[in-house]
Amino acid sequence: MIDRSDTTWWQRAIFYQIYPRSFQDSNADGVGDLRGIMARLDYLTGLGVDALWISPFFRSPMLDAGYDIADYRDVDPMFGTMADFGELLAAAHERGIRVVIDLVVNHSSDQHPWFESARSSIDDPRHDWYIWQPMTGTRPPNNWVSLFEHRSAWYPNEATGEWYLATFTRHQPEFNWRNPELRQAIYDIARFWLDAGVDGFRMDVATAYFKDSQFRSNPFSWNLNPNLFQHHRYDRNQPEVHAVFREFRAIADSYGDRVLIGETHGQDAALAASCHGDNDDELHMAFNFDFLRSPWGARPFMDSARRWYRALPAGAWPNFTLSNHDQKRHHWRYRAGSDTEARARVAATLLLGLRGTPFLYYGEELGMDCQRLPRACLRDPLGRSTWPLSFGRDPERTPMQWDDSPYAGFSVTMPWLPVNDDYRRKNVATQEANHGSLLAWYKALIALRKAEPAMQSGNIAWIEAPADVMAWTRTLGARHIDVVLNFGARARTIHLAGGSISLGTRADAGSSIAAGYYRLAPYEVLIIAEEDV
Ligand code: GLC
Repeated sequence: MIDRSDTTWWQRAIFYQIYPRSFQDSNADGVGDLRGIMARLDYLTGLGVDALWISPFFRSPMLDAGYDIADYRDVDPMFGTMADFGELLAAAHERGIRVVIDLVVNHSSDQHPWFESARSSIDDPRHDWYIWQPMTGTRPPNNWVSLFEHRSAWYPNEATGEWYLATFTRHQPEFNWRNPELRQAIYDIARFWLDAGVDGFRMDVATAYFKDSQFRSNPFSWNLNPNLFQHHRYDRNQPEVHAVFREFRAIADSYGDRVLIGETHGQDAALAASCHGDNDDELHMAFNFDFLRSPWGARPFMDSARRWYRALPAGAWPNFTLSNHDQKRHHWRYRAGSDTEARARVAATLLLGLRGTPFLYYGEELGMDCQRLPRACLRDPLGRSTWPLSFGRDPERTPMQWDDSPYAGFSVTMPWLPVNDDYRRKNVATQEANHGSLLAWYKALIALRKAEPAMQSGNIAWIEAPADVMAWTRTLGARHIDVVLNFGARARTIHLAGGSISLGTRADAGSSIAAGYYRLAPYEVLIIAEEDV
């Protein structure tokens, strides 16, 4: 059972993102669904995660995999029914697992009844709920681009003689957050799901809600991916969004123990940090995406973590992510031949050892990879429009690898995306049977983090370390946990304070090491506990 009085559960929690299309199919149609997730709750309990973030499962024409919503208050038949969601939520809560859902309110689907009426006439009461500009010629009003279609983000609407704005696909018209009725309608959607018992929201492209009121063109940038040669100064990240975050926060706080996690749209940690508000009155957390773009190495990860800690306003709580449904999986990004598996253990320890809430992406605990898919299999609009470049997001969305049966135990029929070729050896069943597997390593790390309050909420201080090594101490009261990671393929020597080994890739748990110099093997991970007497 979950404890509803626990308002800071999300600081201690380990989150696990489920992409529902690809987790488990329960009705043999090749697409994952809510009952499938329910059937796998025991696995999630065994893994030790405390909270799920489930990507969109709402009614949708699926032109951006459900991030194009046509009814915010219903489950798409592809995923099940509202009753299924209620059962899933109850079953998760029964096990003490919280459930956070996606709130996609920068835009709706163009098939949402709001847009259908808005586009019918300038006099429609909902017309102003979306963003329009008069069509005075054939040239769009400014240079804003569609990130998924790689063309102007303005599309003509014949009925009103205007352009509408859609910066993802053309099927995702953007809301006008300056309209007070739209704002209330969205808050009602949030209340609807909070009343239903969800534990919070992951807020899709939350910093994109507002655009420049004068519709100025964006300045040039050298960045191709994902910025398409523009600084998104005017179509994103407007200061008005902070007032909306405060309003959302007031709603969430009125329910006591719910969490708001924003996806910020931009590259830098400073932007994410600003979404917490200076007085802890905006989002509880905004995703720090720095690790998704970091090269491999102790230095880059350490610089990135320090930058993030420094950028956060006082009192704000950090978070870390290595993989999600929009980026190539980190197991693949950091592959290095026969060192890949060792690197995956270092990466997992980084994520689960730092101070901040960790977000895991389904399958990363198995070391799921990204493989190049044939063009005919592509489903992601971004992948299709940028073929043969590899910007598409299908490779990180392939079915979960449960066992070595056909379709990896995900489904009994051909799945919507092909299962990765390596599923016969890389799957939950084989890794559960092997104490030395990556899955076993994740379980041990998670169990340790849960058993050691210092790992969850302790302070962090860096330990002086040689090149390729990143090391820190987490401290709570008299308890200190040292986490030592060798990112390199060479042995290194580090001075340690000593203590009892909690977990290690080479050293035995339970044995102790004395204060002094310790020789770390290539990619060695060591976690040592000590207590002041
Ligand atoms: C977010 C989602 C992504 C989606 C986009 C448009 O970035 O994570 O998957 O395509 O928003 O909604």
